[in-house]
Amino acid sequence: MSSTKKEKKQAPSPRNEGKKRVAVIPGDGIGQEVIPQAVKVIQATGANVELTEFDWGADRYLRDGTTVPADGFAMLARDFDAILVGAFGDPRVKTNIHAKEILLGMRFKMDLYANVRPVRLLDAALCPLKGVEPKDVDFVVLRENTEGVYTDAGGVFKGGTPDEIATQEDINTRKGVERIIRYAFQYCEQHTKLDGSPCKTVLMCDKSNAMTHAGGLWQRVFKEVSGEYPHITAQHMYVDALCMQMVRDPRQFDVIVTNNMFGDIITDLAAGLQGGLGMAASGNIHPGRTSMFEPVHGSAPPIAGKNVANPFGAILTAAMMLRHLEFEKEAGKIEAAVLAAVREKKTTQDIGGKLGTKEAAEWVALRVGQG
Ligand code: NAD
Ligand code: IPM
Ligand code: MN
Repeated sequence: MSSTKKEKKQAPSPRNEGKKRVAVIPGDGIGQEVIPQAVKVIQATGANVELTEFDWGADRYLRDGTTVPADGFAMLARDFDAILVGAFGDPRVKTNIHAKEILLGMRFKMDLYANVRPVRLLDAALCPLKGVEPKDVDFVVLRENTEGVYTDAGGVFKGGTPDEIATQEDINTRKGVERIIRYAFQYCEQHTKLDGSPCKTVLMCDKSNAMTHAGGLWQRVFKEVSGEYPHITAQHMYVDALCMQMVRDPRQFDVIVTNNMFGDIITDLAAGLQGGLGMAASGNIHPGRTSMFEPVHGSAPPIAGKNVANPFGAILTAAMMLRHLEFEKEAGKIEAAVLAAVREKKTTQDIGGKLGTKEAAEWVALRVGQG
């Protein structure tokens, strides 16, 4: 792999020091602003992590045509314990090829099959719904992350003619569906709600009334796997009805499991319940393997470079990553500091504050350092 100033090849270091190695890929647009701030906050916790930055993204692609350097994913899996990512998407790259190869490449080729997207409201003031408090918005969406329409299987026949045909296949494998559904039941067993109450329900969301082949597989597997967890309530909703319920009464959800595309769509809606895309965190997980953590938002080109992007989604993502790396105390400190920032309005404008990206993150980093 070629090297850049910041990027150096890692010699495999002994894992017994407790030190964790994290690859940092800020990417494009506001990713380049929020990720350095999340890194500052990680450093303020004093967690024993070694961070190595990589310049994968649109600038690099436009400079030398590289999206993912040769051996890139194998290197990440071999040399790092986790990956912290910003966002990919740049108006200069019309095909979005770099985002597809880097972001979807990591998810698919590293087989990070569980996209874990927690939905938590930190303060009532951030929720657009009337009378909804933090205890009412506390659930997680588990999105299948390696299949579905995202495989981009299909093609174009007679392109550019009046007879053009475009197909986009929805690929669902028994193995892929079963492992994410099983992950959902295990997640429910292993997690409590923020108020300490047990997580009781797993809700599977699909569109099996219209898409009967894939939906049929999801329905059958869900029924089978739920039978192994009789102490957990198994529920089902069609994705359209789920969207309405999420807005009408978000209190009813604990764990939602769904396919790749529905998971993408409902997590932007769910981010709206939390205060917007600037507040939403996520992890791309394969248990036991190097996993990748990224805020739910994209590169937001219109606001990039203006020091206005909300860094809290990226910072909460860093906390999620630290918890995954077993830095529980450090993760808790970050979450407490973000909560304090929200309550004291030490935030960016999108959630009602007056601070810039850097200033809001610095407030959090300072608080973390004091805590
Ligand atoms: P986006 O998430 O970038 O922006 C959607 C809206 O939310 C915009 O109004 C934006 O200003 C706002 N927003 C997003 N993050 C914010 C933050 N941290 N603080 C304040 N406001 C924030 O989605 P989009 O506009 O649909 O896409 C822009 C580009 O990002 C596209 O190229 C898209 O493909 C890409 N994208 C990448 C990822 C990723 O890499 N994970 C995710 C989503 C979109
Ligand atoms: C996300 C993004 C990506 C997705 C895009 C950039 C391909 O929207 O992470 O939510 O659809 O998964
Ligand atoms: Mn999305």
